[in-house]
Amino acid sequence: MSAESPLIHSMRSAVAAAPDDVPLRLHLAELLLTAGCDDAAVSEAAVALQQAPGDSQAREVMLRALTGAATSPPREAAPPAPPAPPQAAPPAQPPTTTSPATGPAPAPGFDWKAAQDQVGDIVPPRFVEAPLAVDGSGDPGDAAAWDVERPGTVRLADVGGMQQVKERLEAAFLAPLRNPELRRLYGKSLRGGLLLYGPPGCGKTFIARAVAGELGASFLSVSVTDVLDMWIGNSERNMHELFQTARRQAPCVVFLDELDALGGKRSRTQSAGMRNTVNQLLTELDGVEADANEGVFVLAATNVPWDVDVALRRPGRLDRTLLVLPPDAPAREAILRYHLRERPIENVDLGKLVKATDGLSGADLAHVCEGAAEHALLDSARTGTVRMIGMPDLLAAAGQVAPSTEPWFAAARNVAMYANDGGMYDDLVAYLKKKRKL
Ligand SMILES: Nc1ncnc2c1ncn2[C@@H]1O[C@H](COP(=O)(O)OP(=O)(O)OP(=O)(O)O)[C@@H](O)[C@H]1O
Ligand SMILES: [Mg+2]
Repeated sequence: MSAESPLIHSMRSAVAAAPDDVPLRLHLAELLLTAGCDDAAVSEAAVALQQAPGDSQAREVMLRALTGAATSPPREAAPPAPPAPPQAAPPAQPPTTTSPATGPAPAPGFDWKAAQDQVGDIVPPRFVEAPLAVDGSGDPGDAAAWDVERPGTVRLADVGGMQQVKERLEAAFLAPLRNPELRRLYGKSLRGGLLLYGPPGCGKTFIARAVAGELGASFLSVSVTDVLDMWIGNSERNMHELFQTARRQAPCVVFLDELDALGGKRSRTQSAGMRNTVNQLLTELDGVEADANEGVFVLAATNVPWDVDVALRRPGRLDRTLLVLPPDAPAREAILRYHLRERPIENVDLGKLVKATDGLSGADLAHVCEGAAEHALLDSARTGTVRMIGMPDLLAAAGQVAPSTEPWFAAARNVAMYANDGGMYDDLVAYLKKKRKL
């Protein structure tokens, strides 16, 4: 997305400023189609069709997007040019547009810069930004390796439903952090993080990002597998660099996804390397120097909390846990709305769909919407008549998707029954009882 051509970029802004202008939107769709961005073209054509269902040009663009008819035509083959000048005519470019030092001089009139912009996300850069220093000090273990997202716009309000999760987050994590005065008053330490757990695809990552948004903090998300894999033998240093990066970027939420990859209980851990990495994480969490972790908030997530090293859950470390369950009805509605927002739909009874999707995870719901869209699209391509996605498509897709969380609950049930040490899984037990699964 970020490497869209400047023309498409400015056309997007124009469409955002005049969202009801159908010809303008169709022009954007044409440009996307010419650029090979068929999916994005379908989305735009879909919105246009929603606004003007009978518009023949909209139908025609949609059909071409669906059938990939204009996937990668020669760049000169400009689309049947509607309003504005087509992309193939680049803005007047001064001859000074520099070509790279190597290679043959570009053909006169060839807009090198535009071409680079267009392929920027496919072709790797010719030089890395910071070359390796001879002493190796610039090697990938360095902080630059961790991608820090600037404070994001996802807030808890964007998380649909899940009222209980939000209340727990507020009480256990956000309220004390938001209010330094109160924290000082009650001497509540800033230390300690929160471990999110639950079945796959139910919003752990999404919620972590929303927490960062709430705190106005940067977001440093890293899968523990990456820490371990990136440079074998370097995991301890990676872990340290990760926290150092976060400290430099404070306030910053560090999100350790797939925490269980750290290899279970330390006693069972075979490799000494892994044990050292766990120990390093413990050191970082404890923040050796006083205030080292001021403004660094640690969240972690796992699908298998019973495999997480108990040392990591001691007070002052990841000492609070939060169960993230399959989305409740309001959450399902929000998720369905989100995945249908740019698709051409008609007469969708969300209430009914929400009821029909009980037990499905967020990821399953995305799947339902994709399945329904695919069905309607294939139908349209087959008959040559574009039709909207309707309730029958969605209900059929919902019927075909089995809840992907079932195997998780099967495993969780055993843990809830036999290994609820210290009441860590009380929430889970309560949920299973409510659902009559225990
Ligand atoms: N309450 C919600 N409101 C809106 N969207 C949600 C909600 N819960 C989940 N989603 C969406 O569902 C999808 C799956 O969520 P996410 O990736 O956060 O799950 P996860 O628990 O981290 O899964 P995994 O265990 O596989 O890492 C995402 O696209 C997310 O945007
Ligand atoms: Mg996740």
